[in-house]
Amino acid sequence: MRSHSLLLLPVLTVCALAAKALASPPVSVDVIPGQTSQGPSTVQFVSEQHGFDGPKVKSLNSTTSDWWYFDVVSSNLDASVVIAFFSAESTGLWEGIPDLGTATWAYTIITFPNGTQSVIFFPVDQMTVVTVENGGYATMGNQTGWAGTPDMSEYWVWVDAPDAGIEGNLVLKSVSDSKVAAGHSPCAPASSPPGQSFELGPDFGWNNAVPDADARVDLTINGSRLKFSGSGYHDKNWGSRPIETVVGSWYWGHARVGPLSIVWFDFIAPDGTEKPSSYVSSDGTLISSTCDLAGSVRPTGVNATFPPNSQSAPASGFRVIIPSQDGGGLTFNITHKEVIYDSPGQAVRWIGSVSGGFNNGTVWDSGIALYEQFTFPENREAHTVRGASCIYIRERVKV
Ligand SMILES: *[C@@H]1O[C@H](CO)[C@@H](O)[C@H](O)[C@H]1NC(C)=O
Ligand SMILES: *[C@@H]1O[C@H](CO)[C@@H](O)[C@H](O)[C@H]1NC(C)=O
Ligand SMILES: *[C@@H]1O[C@H](CO)[C@@H](O)[C@H](O)[C@H]1NC(C)=O
Ligand SMILES: *[C@@H]1O[C@H](CO)[C@@H](O)[C@H](O)[C@H]1NC(C)=O
Ligand SMILES: *[C@@H]1O[C@H](CO)[C@@H](O)[C@H](O)[C@H]1NC(C)=O
Ligand SMILES: *[C@@H]1O[C@H](CO)[C@@H](O)[C@H](O)[C@H]1NC(C)=O
Ligand SMILES: *[C@@H]1O[C@H](CO)[C@@H](O)[C@H](O)[C@H]1NC(C)=O
Repeated sequence: MRSHSLLLLPVLTVCALAAKALASPPVSVDVIPGQTSQGPSTVQFVSEQHGFDGPKVKSLNSTTSDWWYFDVVSSNLDASVVIAFFSAESTGLWEGIPDLGTATWAYTIITFPNGTQSVIFFPVDQMTVVTVENGGYATMGNQTGWAGTPDMSEYWVWVDAPDAGIEGNLVLKSVSDSKVAAGHSPCAPASSPPGQSFELGPDFGWNNAVPDADARVDLTINGSRLKFSGSGYHDKNWGSRPIETVVGSWYWGHARVGPLSIVWFDFIAPDGTEKPSSYVSSDGTLISSTCDLAGSVRPTGVNATFPPNSQSAPASGFRVIIPSQDGGGLTFNITHKEVIYDSPGQAVRWIGSVSGGFNNGTVWDSGIALYEQFTFPENREAHTVRGASCIYIRERVKV
């Protein structure tokens, strides 16, 4: 660990001083131990004045979960990096998550331009999250962490794990022109008054601090430099029950095409109830942030099974429909370029190209996207048997 802790101290001091001057200090510190508590957790599903990107689960136990996700896809669609930070035991998530012996861990999934993929897990003893206004800092042991500005307009994600063969950082600058928080909860922008619901489905929380960012990646992986720029994204999820019991399936993704930044999350509960959420901005100006039922994501082409299930092969593409007053709504076609993560029967994540735009005929092509499909088995009893790690990464697949 080098500059990170040194950097954090003066910043914390300044924040603490600044906070003192305010009636309601917008700084909070959460030290999340790798050992979960035995009792009930307190889970937050409604927005407050501060803490948009802060922890949502207090007293994490073995059936609750809270995680932060970052990714960057390159402008030429040939590389991507995903880094996710979890405070959750495998029993709070879904079958196939390895039991790492601790509830605080991160992973990186890196796809190189030559198609090679690298997946690394970072189990640590504890995680510290310092929430400053809506953004803040976090450290996952001394291996990796992030630092975000209080308004969530900029994030820096670092990895300092020479033993695992990975060092470097990602920098995300939100494309939003908003002076207040750029992000959104399922049905409303983050700039909305407190009291917005974070529940995408019952007992399942989502918010999206950075829908689209100008991003730079600079990592060194076992001596090879991976440096690129592209579109970055950051969100978080959490649950008050094991995730595989609250979700039937979902389609999620983000894209940039022409001046548009879009995010979709079409959630289907175990009982089949669909809850679509979508976000669009144009040149950084918000156009729509809604969970209007007119929105949807549907599989297209070969193997287009809807709703998807753990037996169905993933479709060859997707159509994303986003309701909006502007231009009579928006429609996008998503075409796969490469699978960047594959856990058969459960999750596939791709990078791909996007065309589309306003239904009035103003459309663009050659956009870039990073997106996934998730399905959970029909038997959604919380699993109790923990086997070996079943994270599968298939050989490079070009489609
Ligand atoms: C990181 O923490 C681990 C475990 O506490 C320790 O063994 C290691 O020396 C630390 N590494 C650095 C670079 O500080
Ligand atoms: C964990 O916390 C949740 C939310 O309070 C509660 O419903 C659940 O029973 C708790 N789980 C355990 C194993 O204590
Ligand atoms: C670096 O190489 C080692 C040994 O081959 C491997 O175990 C590790 O996964 C590699 N690290 C990354 C980040 O790919
Ligand atoms: C792909 O590129 C990475 C990083 O430069 C390198 O480590 C790896 O060996 C390459 N793989 C192949 C199959 O060439
Ligand atoms: C459709 O599914 C079948 C059966 O799983 C598979 O063999 C085929 O490759 C899939 N086609 C496409 C275009 O994904
Ligand atoms: C379609 O709607 C968008 C958003 O309102 C607008 O910018 C664009 O000029 C419209 N295009 C046409 C052809 O009317
Ligand atoms: C999207 O795909 C549909 C069906 O293939 C096609 O009719 C439409 O023109 C496409 N739209 C764009 C903007 O590429």
